[in-house]
Amino acid sequence: MEKINIAVDGVSSSGKSTMAKDLAKEIGYIYIDSGAMYRAITLYCMQNNIINPDKTINESKLKEHLPNIDIRFKLNPETGRPDTYLNGKNVEKEIRGMEVSQLVSPVSAIGFLRKEMVKQQQKMSLNKGVVMDGRDIGTVVFPDAELKIFVSASPEIRAKRRIDELRMKGDTKTSYEEVLENIKYRDHHDQNRKESPLRKADDAITLDNSNINIEQQLQWAIDMYYNTIRKK
Ligand code: DC
Repeated sequence: MEKINIAVDGVSSSGKSTMAKDLAKEIGYIYIDSGAMYRAITLYCMQNNIINPDKTINESKLKEHLPNIDIRFKLNPETGRPDTYLNGKNVEKEIRGMEVSQLVSPVSAIGFLRKEMVKQQQKMSLNKGVVMDGRDIGTVVFPDAELKIFVSASPEIRAKRRIDELRMKGDTKTSYEEVLENIKYRDHHDQNRKESPLRKADDAITLDNSNINIEQQLQWAIDMYYNTIRKK
């Protein structure tokens, strides 16, 4: 069967990654988490003094360092999902913590960095058969994607899901209020930044998953995939 590229965009912690991963697994596609790339760059900035004391980014230093930053994804046979590697080191756990979450928005707003990430993301998807999730996939990375999905849910529901996830991972310190505030801050930042702000592509289909579970959202995505393939 001819392969397509699938763009999944949406607000932070909306469950779009879960849906994109599950869908890719179900239909035998490669899953690419573009947010993990911005998170890995953020971690690199933290480790290499590229973040100023006032939390702004030293952009000229980042530009100098950019050619030395190698981000790859490798399938983790235990989870069946790809882990993120930064210069050869598995950073999957570190990039999901609160520290990276709090600094990733300003990093992901840098124009020259976005250009480079988009170039790499397009290169990874040349052969099609990719499900990629992020903020600008349907608008910038795959403007011609055959299927574009835009996922949303209320900030409170997203904060509750995120806190449950952190607790499962053993984080007992981060509070619900802290997570909710971070989600609202990132929504605002992602939607109002100058470079590729988060917006729904005109031809994307919206899914508000506030009141459906993971299985139901996967079934919805599978149906959308088969509808698209049938029309081709
Ligand atoms: O999807 P996520 O929460 O892991 O993404 C982390 C941050 O990266 C988020 O604040 C927005 C940014 N991002 C982006 O600007 N463009 C993308 N394609 C993916 C993520």
